[in-house]
Amino acid sequence: MDIIKLDAIDSTNDFLKKLSKHSDVENFTMVLANSQTNGKGQRGATWFSESGKNVIMSVLLKNLSITNKQLFDLNVMISISILNVLIEYKIPKLSIKWPNDIMSDNKKIGGILIENTIKTDNSIISIVGIGLNVNQTNFSTFPKASSIALLTGLTFDVNQLAEDIRKEIYKNRVSLSTSNSNYWELYHQNLFKINVPSTFEDNLQNKFMAIIKNVTREGKLQLLLEDDSIVAYDIKEVKMLY
Ligand code: BTN
Repeated sequence: MDIIKLDAIDSTNDFLKKLSKHSDVENFTMVLANSQTNGKGQRGATWFSESGKNVIMSVLLKNLSITNKQLFDLNVMISISILNVLIEYKIPKLSIKWPNDIMSDNKKIGGILIENTIKTDNSIISIVGIGLNVNQTNFSTFPKASSIALLTGLTFDVNQLAEDIRKEIYKNRVSLSTSNSNYWELYHQNLFKINVPSTFEDNLQNKFMAIIKNVTREGKLQLLLEDDSIVAYDIKEVKMLY
């Protein structure tokens, strides 16, 4: 499985997307960069990362045994794969904040941006982008962020960590097509603030209290509202304030 190491690039996701459009890129090819000039986050946000200190990676996945109705399965499998690796690295108090932020205690240490292309034959090509804060220790402008180094007091080999994550994703790819795999169960078990009253904000900036009950197969967040109704929100409709 190929690894492409870059110093600086606009976005490893965009780089891999363009490459796979113009050439036959091997499945599970990984692009690593020291820094990005236009790192992309969820909801159109920018992903910032100090040069050379963190995991900035994108992996190409093709021929997945999922339909376009099961695309969130991939988010769940990738989140669990990262969590499994970080458990091996003994990172404390890990959880997944819906849809797929990697948390330690109350701080975000990593994020995932999956970009899917559905081809004319209905097959899916996914670019799985992962940013993980590893050896960066200054987050003065990001009070809700932290890194593995800050949490453990240790420094880590960023390339090794990226390779360990890719291996775990490769191992877990089969679980996408297996009906008895437990990654959805693990996702819910590790879901940040599940069953805990929390504050949310809808896209009209209304703040409200609710309790996370579930994430649906389509990836919607099911909240129990104060009037006892249960409403499912998609990623563009709500965010958790924490
Ligand atoms: C998030 O907002 O939580 C998702 C962040 C994803 C960042 C990674 S860094 C590597 C890859 N390339 C990008 O441009 N974004 C993802």
